[in-house]
Amino acid sequence: MVGLYLELPDDVQDIKKNIKKLVDNKLAPRTREIDESDEFAWDIRKLLAKQGVFSLPFPEEYGGVDGRWLTFCVVIEEIARVNAAVSMSVGCTALGTGALCFAGTEEQKRKYIPRLVTGELIPAFGLTEPNAGSDASGLKTKAVRQGDEYVINGSKCFITQGNIADIVTVAAKTTDSETGKKSISLFIVEKGTPGFSYGTVEKKMGLHGSPTAELIFEDVRVPAINRIGAEGEGFKILMRTLDRSRIMVGAQCLGIAQGALDEAVKYARTREQFGQPISKFQGVQFLLAEMQTLVEASRHLVYDAANRWDQKIEPITQFASITKLFCSEACVKVTDKAVQVLGGYGYMREYNVERMMRDAKHATLVEGTSQIQKLIIARGLLGKEYV
Ligand code: CAA
Repeated sequence: MVGLYLELPDDVQDIKKNIKKLVDNKLAPRTREIDESDEFAWDIRKLLAKQGVFSLPFPEEYGGVDGRWLTFCVVIEEIARVNAAVSMSVGCTALGTGALCFAGTEEQKRKYIPRLVTGELIPAFGLTEPNAGSDASGLKTKAVRQGDEYVINGSKCFITQGNIADIVTVAAKTTDSETGKKSISLFIVEKGTPGFSYGTVEKKMGLHGSPTAELIFEDVRVPAINRIGAEGEGFKILMRTLDRSRIMVGAQCLGIAQGALDEAVKYARTREQFGQPISKFQGVQFLLAEMQTLVEASRHLVYDAANRWDQKIEPITQFASITKLFCSEACVKVTDKAVQVLGGYGYMREYNVERMMRDAKHATLVEGTSQIQKLIIARGLLGKEYV
């Protein structure tokens, strides 16, 4: 691996080394097969669970270990360096449970977190709908209160792990019984609840092995105690969840970009043309130098943003969007350049950079497109009333 590393605390460095060993030995040899079969790697999930990866984003009082966002991001970076789809699945553990951790009741936390920590439960984040993507608050799924229950009707799309999730945090419109005002509330819906099913499992350009599914809710009854946070508070909790998660998407991009840089350097040193390694040509050197510059800038942003989150330094919203915007766009550029260094070979399935380039693109779309990140950054810069 080539890189100039920022200082990480010793214990984070140790966790990074252990994960690196695991992904290099166990995940790297499986990566091509996971990409080609587009099947979820249950064996890898078990190994990661054994290594304690799923416990990292959770507080210690519920069985979590560490709890620092920096540690989790470093782990995501290491996994994504080898396989972005698997890093997506690990990342979803935090995205799908952010609301529970930030606003869940003691009872909810005690019920679910201990089984999320061990990897026994797979979570998902149910926000996006066919007509509510960037405009997240325009969602149409409804939850109507009936006594001690809510009845949920509607659908969600593009839900990571939707078809294999045990619990989903679902955003739905609720109506205030006194004022009639509509707002968004969050609910934990468990797999197996009558009326709750999944539909199409999408075929995607990249991230093969990380399933993306449609969710369907037909008169799904959930107990009112499954509501996360107060009625109507859901949107703010979701936005907070995304603030944290966008830093993690930055880490995922950093990992993909580092992996592509490593591949390009290795290739440039060994591939010979015109009687010498192509690394001797300034045209190739410049490509590699541009790639490393983007990788190191991404690393600085991700580690700094994760530290800011851990130390509760505000305003984090704008900084998380800056991190996600820069790292996702950088990752697309770096993987494109990696394919360029490998030339025709880089375009072939046999070479990792081909998959990395396909995987990279998702990051400019998920958890808010690059354009949405720019909107958030501009609002932070100018004040919402001026944009
Ligand atoms: N933290 C706390 N509160 C926040 C907040 C934040 N980060 N951002 C906004 N809010 C609050 C605002 O203060 C405001 O509160 P008041 O009503 O009290 O003033 C309220 O929420 C509404 O905020 P806005 O007026 O800014 O909302 P908006 O409708 O203009 O939209 C948006 C904001 C930034 C465009 C938002 O809709 C957004 O982020 N859209 C992108 C959606 C997205 O990222 N989807 C990702 C889906 S998940 C995924 O992709 C993962 C996967 O599995 C693939």
